[in-house]
Amino acid sequence: MLKCWRPACWLLAASFAATALAEEPVKVGMVIEASGPFADIGRQILDGARAYMKANGDTVAGRKIELIVRDTTGAAPDIAKRHAQQLVTRDKVDFLAGFGLTPNALAAAPIATEAKTPMIIMNAATSVITTKSPYIARVSMTLPQVTAPLATWASKNGIQEAYTLVSDYGPGIDAETTFKKTFEAAGGKIVGEVRTPLRNPDFAPFLQRIKDAKPQAVFIFLPAGEQPVAFMKGFAERGLDKAGIRLIATGDITEDGMIDAMGDTPLGVVTTHHYSAAHDSAQNKAFLKAFAEVDAKHRPNFMAVAAWDGMAAIYEVVRKLDGKLDGDKAMEVLKGLKIDSPRGPILIDPETRDVVQAVYYRKVQKVNGKLYNVEFDQVANVKDPGK
Ligand code: PHB
Repeated sequence: MLKCWRPACWLLAASFAATALAEEPVKVGMVIEASGPFADIGRQILDGARAYMKANGDTVAGRKIELIVRDTTGAAPDIAKRHAQQLVTRDKVDFLAGFGLTPNALAAAPIATEAKTPMIIMNAATSVITTKSPYIARVSMTLPQVTAPLATWASKNGIQEAYTLVSDYGPGIDAETTFKKTFEAAGGKIVGEVRTPLRNPDFAPFLQRIKDAKPQAVFIFLPAGEQPVAFMKGFAERGLDKAGIRLIATGDITEDGMIDAMGDTPLGVVTTHHYSAAHDSAQNKAFLKAFAEVDAKHRPNFMAVAAWDGMAAIYEVVRKLDGKLDGDKAMEVLKGLKIDSPRGPILIDPETRDVVQAVYYRKVQKVNGKLYNVEFDQVANVKDPGK
């Protein structure tokens, strides 16, 4: 303890206290899938966030920004909830962020509400997530948002019959429901549907069933990462491509981080999504450059972009509140926030706190010898259709 007997000393002590307060960092508790079968998701999110900090500095309104990273080890709601709880009570974070997988985001939502801590969703894409806490804002996407434009495209482009295969949890069910509703409304017919387990799926029996059904096209959603690679391998090995079955999907399947591990099978596949590394803009070039500086080994995907934008949102809150953070005031800044993202302009809808953005039509093509999702059309300002 500093003993103070003289006024000069009181002043000194007071100024020490003020400095300590000013130097307290803004803490961002990142709950991510950093190990286990979904570790690619956690890596993309973390590297996207780090890239933003590298490119934009780590101090805003006089306060340092600090990431505190916690690993859920996979789709593990109990672990995600425990981390979120400890981050708000013990680490006293100003923001919760990350959340690659829906079950982890849903489990943490009540913690955000209880602690009045803003929670920035950097990937998890089931529609309902933003309704689970008034402190949630999403900068990624929703499955209905990216799926509906694909179903419309399919029916306009000669596909009358489709089989659906989706992962059996929130985003997969959202994708299946939206595809079916939009496709049938446009006159299409669903000739078969199957849901695959989230954990350790073996695609072989499902692929055989689809091959035997001989649909004109198969629509799929699987969580980005290892599963789409395994699916593509099986698709080619079982000769579904040679049988003339057309593959259409959300961009999760042909995402930039893994597309190089898929051989040539994805060539020509049409997908819809909110980001492609091939997106032609100055903002995307700056993003790709910054990302390469923190992770030269991998190509960033849509999750890295959402993490980059999530950090942009956090920086803007800190700037607007001049470093004096408060959960309710932070939400007021987030509602209606516009970000000039590497994917194009995005908006956090002031009513729903969900992202509004362009959805792009893309076709897998070779660019300089490597596979890319080359954009050929878009629908601007797409909201989550469920809201
Ligand atoms: C999710 O769990 O919400 C999720 C995971 C991976 C994706 C999309 C959505 O590619």
